[in-house]
Amino acid sequence: MGTEVRGVVALTKGGPVRLETVLVPDPGPGEAVVTVQACGVCHTDLHYREGGITDDFPFLLGHEAAGRVAAVGEGVTSIAPGDFVVLNWRAVCGGCRACRRGRPWYCFATHNATQKMSLSDGTPLTPALGIGAFAEQTLVAAGQCTKVDERARPEVAGLLGCGVMAGLGAAMFTGEVGPGDSVAVFGCGGVGCAAVAGARLAGATTVIGVDLDPGKLELATGFGATHTVDASAEDPVEAIRSLTGGFGADVYIEAVGHPSVFAQAFAARDLAGTLVQVGVPTPDMRLEMPMIDFFGRGGRLKPSWYGDCLPNRDFPMLIGLYLQGRLDLDRFVSETIALDQVEEAFHRMERGEVLRSVVVL
Ligand SMILES: NC(=O)c1ccc[n+]([C@@H]2O[C@H](COP(=O)([O-])OP(=O)(O)OC[C@H]3O[C@@H](n4cnc5c(N)ncnc54)[C@H](O)[C@@H]3O)[C@@H](O)[C@H]2O)c1
Ligand SMILES: [Zn+2]
Ligand SMILES: [Zn+2]
Repeated sequence: MGTEVRGVVALTKGGPVRLETVLVPDPGPGEAVVTVQACGVCHTDLHYREGGITDDFPFLLGHEAAGRVAAVGEGVTSIAPGDFVVLNWRAVCGGCRACRRGRPWYCFATHNATQKMSLSDGTPLTPALGIGAFAEQTLVAAGQCTKVDERARPEVAGLLGCGVMAGLGAAMFTGEVGPGDSVAVFGCGGVGCAAVAGARLAGATTVIGVDLDPGKLELATGFGATHTVDASAEDPVEAIRSLTGGFGADVYIEAVGHPSVFAQAFAARDLAGTLVQVGVPTPDMRLEMPMIDFFGRGGRLKPSWYGDCLPNRDFPMLIGLYLQGRLDLDRFVSETIALDQVEEAFHRMERGEVLRSVVVL
């Protein structure tokens, strides 16, 4: 049983991705099969292909997706065939110690489908972030599907599934940006530009975008940055101080994932300011600082997993803001591509040419 579809698979570490036949099982209890309509290309897909996440090859890549529910398994009541949904990679369990304490965005037991998708020879596939949506259909846990307003285009709605949500949430939820705040965002890629947009939505009056690439700074301005700093040409700590009356900004969002950027954001913070770490470091990176600086500057240092979002609360709300014209999600879509163009999209991403390439099926 099950359905044969085409999917983008990373067979070996570092090798180019390939279009393969993928067997998608019929949904079991608590599961759903989704017909994918669009899926964004994220850096994490490339990290999987390079063996930077786990060694569980082969991977079925893709995880920033929207589509229609094709079928649901036993006991699924939250969604039904035909529903337009955005997929998420943190389906909360409702029962772990974080969920029981009323902090489900930290859920320590998020879940995916129980059954495995496989290659036609039976080799089981590891779906990227438990999704695997560079495919005509994919199998997920029903809790990974959030119904949203169908008036949003799939290539736009799907973006909320990963990087754009992480950036928006880093500002709105983790950073708790509020009216009148000054905010500095380090790294103006897809995540950082979303953090700029989130800071604007939350009422920040000064939003400073920092990057090494003038093209990215231009994009940040398009998303509402009031000022930009080219960190390849000037010291961002000094530049931010001079833009904030000599004191530093209230909230910093590190959307690069590098200790030197963390150190700049840390040093440029106003007293009692907040630093949000949404960029993902590699295991070899180290932080070192005089402990008195940590104590003496006060405030908060906060990692942000998926922007501390709750998909069922936030995806419909953000799609609502998009449909009202208050959140420009269209601007993140640099290009739409076909399923067999993911490898080229990885190269464009590595060259910094796109915010998001989105596969449309
Ligand atoms: N926390 C989460 O849940 C989550 C989710 C998705 C992505 N991420 C992470 O967010 C980070 C950003 O993702 P992205 O898709 O925007 O990547 P990206 O590569 O598109 O953007 C990174 C940007 O940082 C800039 N940059 C590099 N070095 C810099 C420096 N020293 N100073 C200033 N800017 C610098 C680059 O020019 C680029 O514009 C990645 O680490 C990614 O893994 C985190
Ligand atoms: Zn939980
Ligand atoms: Zn991602």
